Amino acid sequence: MNGPRKLLYVKSFGCQMNVYDSRRMADTLAPQGYVETAAADDADLVILNTCHIREKAAEKVYSELGRLRRMKDAAASEGRDLVIAVAGCVAQAEGEEIIRRQPAVDLVFGPQSYHRLPELLARAARDGKAVDTEFPVDNKFEHLAEPTPAATRARGVSAFVTVQEGCDKFCTFCVVPYTRGAEVSRPAQKILTEIEHLAAAGVREVTLIGQNVNAYHGEGPDSRPWSLARLLRRVAQVGGIDRLRYTTSHPRDMDDDLIAAHRDLHELMPQLHLPVQSGSDRILAAMNRRHSRADYLDVVKRLRDARPDLALTSDFIVGFPGETESDFAATLSLVSDVGYSGAFSFKYSPRPGTPGADMDDQIDEQTKSERLQRLQQAIDRNQAAFNRRCLGMSFDVLFERPGRYAGQLVGRSPYLQPVQATAPAALIGGIATVTITEVASNSLFGALAPGAQPRAPQPALLPAGA
Ligand code: SAH
Ligand code: SF4
Ligand code: F3S
Repeated sequence: MNGPRKLLYVKSFGCQMNVYDSRRMADTLAPQGYVETAAADDADLVILNTCHIREKAAEKVYSELGRLRRMKDAAASEGRDLVIAVAGCVAQAEGEEIIRRQPAVDLVFGPQSYHRLPELLARAARDGKAVDTEFPVDNKFEHLAEPTPAATRARGVSAFVTVQEGCDKFCTFCVVPYTRGAEVSRPAQKILTEIEHLAAAGVREVTLIGQNVNAYHGEGPDSRPWSLARLLRRVAQVGGIDRLRYTTSHPRDMDDDLIAAHRDLHELMPQLHLPVQSGSDRILAAMNRRHSRADYLDVVKRLRDARPDLALTSDFIVGFPGETESDFAATLSLVSDVGYSGAFSFKYSPRPGTPGADMDDQIDEQTKSERLQRLQQAIDRNQAAFNRRCLGMSFDVLFERPGRYAGQLVGRSPYLQPVQATAPAALIGGIATVTITEVASNSLFGALAPGAQPRAPQPALLPAGA
């Protein structure tokens, strides 16, 4: 350890990759004497790991920075220094502009600079400020510090592992190709080693993450590029890892091999997040999604042929420029055609530098709000129907933590629903069969079924008519 113990507070906004990156930043700072603390007040260093995806997400950062400036002033009056750092996608997109808007910020650095954090902190201490938003030629994954065994243990029962970062798709609404850069896949062996360490520390479920995860093409141990399907087949062999998931996928990269993995790998959970954004071919084309509604429905059909009980979730945008009432009706009908177990929906937010922001026919706020409400109602109906079909079924639950009431635990079903059941604390980290006895809007309640056999695929979960 270099230097005295210092307190670090990291706050993540946005997607799961930011959560993962925040852990890796803490790992990289641990050898410098940084220990994590649960509150910003007593920290020596605060890192905001930010999201630029919609205007609201980006603006949240500035209100948070206003609060931190007051904390920094209070610390200064006690003779303490509070270093404020902004990381993530707002840092990448806005760079020095952040310091102009909030001069209390000491350090701004983008997602491709995390391995240089110790050096950047030293530069900020020496020069007063430091900004690093380069896309360096060196691959940061090669240089990021490995987590300590204690940090690995703290990951709990279920962990995210980044396998791919960046995106080459350039959907016309999206900032990700600009903030995260071009697609980069990590070598398979690095991923396997990380997962083996996680398994040894008690992790039972791994979610492979990437902005366009099914475009994965990392170098395999045989020096050839491996597909995501091939990687999944290998990860499934890691002892102790009972459950696998991956997110987020693009419908165009859902190839036969990956669909077959859903048929073959019982470790691969029967739930898939497959964003579609719109049900209208005209809007899909304007969004540059590079697939039609029929292409998407075909992928869904092939997936369900391979894995009949597959639960699908998605992302939707309403009010993309030019979206008419009949385009929106096509989105609503797609929702009922697919029968989702849940979905996120957003009002289109024009983002600086993306083609969508300069398109004619921007939709007014009121229309967007009204469409969002109608879409959310349709999604809620789908979700409620999916949950209702689970009533009386028995399936395996991976217990993650104590529940709200004494004697209860909370876990996840194979379909990613939260499940509450009366169970001994010793079952945390364990998988047990639960029979669902009650269904609420966002979670299920059940009773342990001692000695029950592992669940077989349940075609009864298919939406009616699919
Ligand atoms: N990597 C993910 C996308 C991350 S952003 C993927 O390719 O699926 C998550 C979701 O945010 C997107 O699926 C989209 O529905 C939404 N989103 C992205 N840009 C947006 C924008 N400008 N306005 C509103 N929603 C947006
Ligand atoms: Fe953004 Fe589209 Fe890439 Fe997803 S696929 S990250 S929505 S550009
Ligand atoms: Fe947000 Fe960046 Fe993730 S914009 S959604 S934090 S990739």
